[in-house]
Amino acid sequence: MSHSPPHLPLPGILLHSPRAYDLQVWLATRGRERSLRETILNLARPRPGEAVLDVGCGTGTLAIATRPRVGPDGEVVGADPSAEMLAGARRKARRSGVEVSFVQAPAQALPFPERRFDLVMSTLMLHHLPRPARGEALREIRRVLKPGGRLLVVDFASSSKQQGGLLHRLHHHGRVKPAEILELVTGAGLERLDAGALSVRDLYYVLAVAPGAEA
Ligand SMILES: C[S@@+](CC[C@H](N)C(=O)[O-])C[C@H]1O[C@@H](n2cnc3c(N)ncnc32)[C@H](O)[C@@H]1O
Repeated sequence: MSHSPPHLPLPGILLHSPRAYDLQVWLATRGRERSLRETILNLARPRPGEAVLDVGCGTGTLAIATRPRVGPDGEVVGADPSAEMLAGARRKARRSGVEVSFVQAPAQALPFPERRFDLVMSTLMLHHLPRPARGEALREIRRVLKPGGRLLVVDFASSSKQQGGLLHRLHHHGRVKPAEILELVTGAGLERLDAGALSVRDLYYVLAVAPGAEA
């Protein structure tokens, strides 16, 4: 897996090899990626008619798995700054016969108007950002969420170095502690709904809501 400095003014570790990434996920989940994605979707609970954004969507697997849940009146958008990962995501969506829009953009500068989405998801992306950029990303996510809109963040609770083994060799950058994810989420003005371990590869999730929905 090749990592390189960002080709953007905003920092972050971009990935550039969609095939290598999908292989890495397959190995890390021992071929059970589909079940991991379903577990994530059961937490985020995308509903028919909703507009959903996947930030740092990578090769688009989660965005594509989301599409049937929002139905014909819903919409799914994936955003990632890596042109190569997005090309892989578009190929995968075409093969799956589902309609998902993929947009080249970093989490810190989302090219969407305020209050555009009912649900934002971001899985395994935050640890790719340096600390100051994490706050910027969360503020952007908050901006594009509708009042009452939900955010689901999933990331590694401890570093792959601590886990050792194959995952460490394939995945050699950082983590975001659960307490930091919670701090970032509440610091951006979102309210925590739920948080906990995913019981897969030391993954941790935080589910939050944007305040201000009418009763
Ligand atoms: C480990 S992958 C996760 C991909 C996908 N979300 C998943 O669950 O498989 C991290 C992704 O974050 C992307 N990334 C890096 N910097 C980013 C940034 N500033 N904003 C959004 N995504 C970024 C990388 O290009 C990569 O596709």
